[in-house]
Amino acid sequence: MTTLEDAVAALEGARRTTTRLTEAADAELTAQHSPLMSPLVWDLAHVGQQEELWLLQHGPGRAPDRTPVFHPTIACLYDAAEHPRAARTQLPLLDPRASRRAIADVRRQVLDRLAGPGGGAPGAVFAAAMVAQHEHQHDETMFATHDLRAGDPLLAAEPTPPGRLVPAEPVLVPAGEFLLGVDPAEEPWALDNEHPQHRVHVPAFRIGRVPVTNGEWAQFVADGGYDDPRHWSAEGWAHRTAEDVRVPLGWSADGAGGWTRRSFGVEAAVDPAEPVQHVDFHEAAAYARWAGARLPTEVEWEKAAAWDPVLGRRRRWPWGSDAPTARHANLGGRALGPAQVGAYPAGASAYGVEQLMGDVWEWTSSEFAPWPGFSPMLYDTYSAPWFGGGYRVLRGGSWASDAVAVRPSFRNWDWPVRRQIFTGLRLAWDV
Ligand SMILES: [Fe+2]
Repeated sequence: MTTLEDAVAALEGARRTTTRLTEAADAELTAQHSPLMSPLVWDLAHVGQQEELWLLQHGPGRAPDRTPVFHPTIACLYDAAEHPRAARTQLPLLDPRASRRAIADVRRQVLDRLAGPGGGAPGAVFAAAMVAQHEHQHDETMFATHDLRAGDPLLAAEPTPPGRLVPAEPVLVPAGEFLLGVDPAEEPWALDNEHPQHRVHVPAFRIGRVPVTNGEWAQFVADGGYDDPRHWSAEGWAHRTAEDVRVPLGWSADGAGGWTRRSFGVEAAVDPAEPVQHVDFHEAAAYARWAGARLPTEVEWEKAAAWDPVLGRRRRWPWGSDAPTARHANLGGRALGPAQVGAYPAGASAYGVEQLMGDVWEWTSSEFAPWPGFSPMLYDTYSAPWFGGGYRVLRGGSWASDAVAVRPSFRNWDWPVRRQIFTGLRLAWDV
């Protein structure tokens, strides 16, 4: 069900996006556009350095006497744990030209290795799929850097389908067991934190049919939601006041009661029908409390997305087993923003919940922790160091996520104050 060809196609797809995101002038690639983000040239070389580490320095067919493309004195500059994002422009990084050359050199060697003896073994295919997903994750990070960049717009947006009016009532998910997480035999590209699959009982809950919109968020702002500590946790209120958070990141009043946002170098009206994005966990939780709701847990989210209660089994995607297309979800970074709510009726889950995949990452109330029986994968510091560190889980991917790098079981995590990424929310209620 997963082949070497799929993994090679995923590597090539990731590289096309990386190339699209790094075609800017050198000065744009080497600048620090935000202290929250790396210079684009760091992400550009980092994806190749990690590819060399996992696919050429590990795994079958490795040659111990091979000369590395990234010499150890260079490779260490691309260690994310070693250098904070805000300090990376001060490092003696490879310049854009040398970075492109290095990652192309690594890729050539990787494709040769995959075509050679043992290249199609399941372990080698998984490692290649893992590296392709890693590159896509950095592509999404680079989308966020471009979003914050002041220069000329580099990327052209492709249109998404128009929204439609969806019933306002939330969707009931009755109490019952379901299978949380995935079995590698069925979902071979899943990462370590999506395993092992296990049966859990979930009490009945209701969940929003679609994500919370900009129009709904504007009502929260107008109602003084940012000024009333009753809606906020103590930690959230402390952050809100210390940082003077008053609207989603980048919103400006248009002087006529509406809002605008500069995104990818273009100032545009905030569309009331699109899911809100660029809100942090504390804002999302405060909005939910103001609305008489709460955030879903990640377990509730996954059940609403993946469980088929009639057949008593998981679906591969919310809508079934068909691979994602433009009819199902807004993924892949072509839209440069979310689609209006109601745009993807064909993407509804078995329960009738829509736009779970793509559009915006959805904050959940869950802290990032391992499923019982967790064991780390080859890249053994991908998940384990971050468990229990106060990170909140985000689900579903955003418009900037690629379809090969997200799944209903996929677990993203970030600090509760982060909002430069493409984050929104969906409400939930106890029954
Ligand atoms: Fe990375």
